[in-house]
Amino acid sequence: MNKGQFIVIEGLEGAGKSTALETLKECLTKQGIDFIATREPGGTPLAEQLRDILKHYQDEAITAQSELLLMYAARSQLVENVIKPALNQGKWVLGDRHDLSSRAYQGGGRQISMDTLNQLRDLTLGNFRPALTLYLDIDPVKGLARAKARGQLDRIEQQQLDFFKRARAVYLDEVTRNPQCIKIDAGQSLDDVQQSIRKIVTNFLHKPSYDY
Ligand code: TMP
Repeated sequence: MNKGQFIVIEGLEGAGKSTALETLKECLTKQGIDFIATREPGGTPLAEQLRDILKHYQDEAITAQSELLLMYAARSQLVENVIKPALNQGKWVLGDRHDLSSRAYQGGGRQISMDTLNQLRDLTLGNFRPALTLYLDIDPVKGLARAKARGQLDRIEQQQLDFFKRARAVYLDEVTRNPQCIKIDAGQSLDDVQQSIRKIVTNFLHKPSYDY
C-alpha cells in the first residue's frame, strides 16, 4: 500500500481506546508507515476549543442539537484542514473517534434521528469514510467504572447508564452492517485485545488500499 489510509478507534468511555491506539501505532511503526494521530472532537486549534466546550461547558444547558452541530463543526475543521491533507501526502491517519461517535452518542444516546445524522454526514463529509474502524466493545457498567476510577467525569461522561446502553446498541448495529467496522471484545485481557488489534491490522495491510 502506498496511499495514506484512515483508521479509526471507537468505543465507549473506559473501553481502552488509548491503549489500543498505542498498539496500532506500534504496528504501523514496525511496518515503516508514516502516520499522524488525531482525536475527535479536536485536533485543530478551533476544534480543540470546541472540544473544551463540549466536554466542560457548564454556564448554560447545551441542547442536543447544539451538541451535534458542534461535533460536526469540529469534525469539518479536522477532516478538511488535517486529515485530507495528510492522506494526500501519503501519510496514514489514526483517529481517536470519528463520525461513528456522533451516531452512537448523539443518535443513540441523545436519540437524534438517523435521518438528521445522515444529512449532517452528507453535508460535512460527503463520501469520505475511514478505511477501517476498530470498535472496542465494553459493557457500559464496566466502562464507566473504569472512567470513574480515572478521575472526574466530564459533561458527557456524566450521562445516565441508559444513554451509554443506547450508544452501545448503535455501535453494535454498525458492526453488523459495515464490513469496514470490526468489533473487538474490550472485556478480554489487555494481551488478548492487543493480539486482536495486531491480527486485524496485519490482515488490513494485505488488502487493496482504500481510494481517497
Ligand atoms: P474522549 O474521546 O476523550 O472519550 O472524549 C470525547 C467525548 O465526546 C466522549 O464522551 C464521546 C463524546 N463524543 C460525542 O458525543 N460525539 C462525537 O461525535 C464525538 C467525536 C465524541
